Amino acid sequence: MAGKDIAYFYELIDRLAKDHDLTDEEFKDLIITEDPEVYALLASKADEARQKIYGKNVYLRGLIEFTDYCKNNCRYCGIRCGNKNAERYRLSEEDILSCCDMGYELGFRTFVLQGGEDPFFNDDRLVSIVSSIKKAHPDCAITLSVGEREKDSYQKLYDAGADRYLLRHETADKAHYELLHPAEMSFEHRMQCLKDLKEIGYQVGCGMMLGSPGQKPEHLVKDLRFLQSFKPHMVGIGPFIPHHDTEYADCPAGTVEMTLKLLSIIRLLLPDVLLPATTALGTIDPFGREKGLKAGANVIMPNLSPTNVRGKYLLYDNKICTGDEAAECIRCMTRRVESVGYQVVQSRGDHVSFQRS
Ligand code: SAM
Ligand code: FES
Repeated sequence: MAGKDIAYFYELIDRLAKDHDLTDEEFKDLIITEDPEVYALLASKADEARQKIYGKNVYLRGLIEFTDYCKNNCRYCGIRCGNKNAERYRLSEEDILSCCDMGYELGFRTFVLQGGEDPFFNDDRLVSIVSSIKKAHPDCAITLSVGEREKDSYQKLYDAGADRYLLRHETADKAHYELLHPAEMSFEHRMQCLKDLKEIGYQVGCGMMLGSPGQKPEHLVKDLRFLQSFKPHMVGIGPFIPHHDTEYADCPAGTVEMTLKLLSIIRLLLPDVLLPATTALGTIDPFGREKGLKAGANVIMPNLSPTNVRGKYLLYDNKICTGDEAAECIRCMTRRVESVGYQVVQSRGDHVSFQRS
């Protein structure tokens, strides 16, 4: 990057904000620079872009981690089926509904049901859960994040009332995907799932970990190109954090700087995207989520799972908020959001293209 001074980056960032595009080489320059002035400029442009569309609003999603059984064995994940030390649990439909009832009282208007790929939750069981939540809270949005399924299954869940689906693509580079996942998992199938979800009509979220083992700047450039062509409604990104019972236990975690930088680039690439400041970001830095909001994020996902299971859904080590009651979580998050000049709003917080006039 010899000769690439701050004026070069000012011009790049201005152009990214205006055209929502750069060349691969230019994206790579942004990804590899460690100049704090560049980070600051990216964050302020990204904040400007989010305020133009979403003002100072921050949307809350109540996260219900309803099962940590998983048939997959993703190499980085603490609840992979090969981890015999993980304490497994499942919430009943009744448990899930009472989390939603409590969340509703606390002001949540979106519930995110996340879990491992647990065959117990077949279509019939999930359809029943989704329809019961919709019946009890018709003014709320339901987001599912339960991994890869077939298109007819996604369709049934959509017909039952699910509005949104989060399925991180993890990496847009096939060889990198194959490094992070065992041979039974397929890059093509994951991509097919994302396509199916979009075709059905879900608001779709994809995303990747930053600093995952083997990740190179070129992979991140491919991720950005994928985001540009797929045009997701939501992008969930967060740092990779090692889990002690995985083969990546000794790998370094992704950094706060890289995560913030990518949040800003993604905001400038897709100005109207819904972009969470994730729990993983709050885990590697006590003010990570606040910094995320200032770098372009506009969504926070406080945990609504019952406290007796919080400490079991451990994707990575040292996860935060495993002991707090939901009511305390929302008070804490509201304070944190306000501390950086934004406001929590009580609304479904749909993507602009899905907002009813
Ligand atoms: N089973 C669903 C799926 O595959 O989409 C949802 C649950 S999965 C645990 C949710 C996300 O957690 C994954 O997409 C992955 O990006 C993230 N994750 C897993 N292990 C992680 C780790 N060690 N550090 C950071 N994020 C991790
Ligand atoms: Fe299935 Fe992580 S391996 S949720």
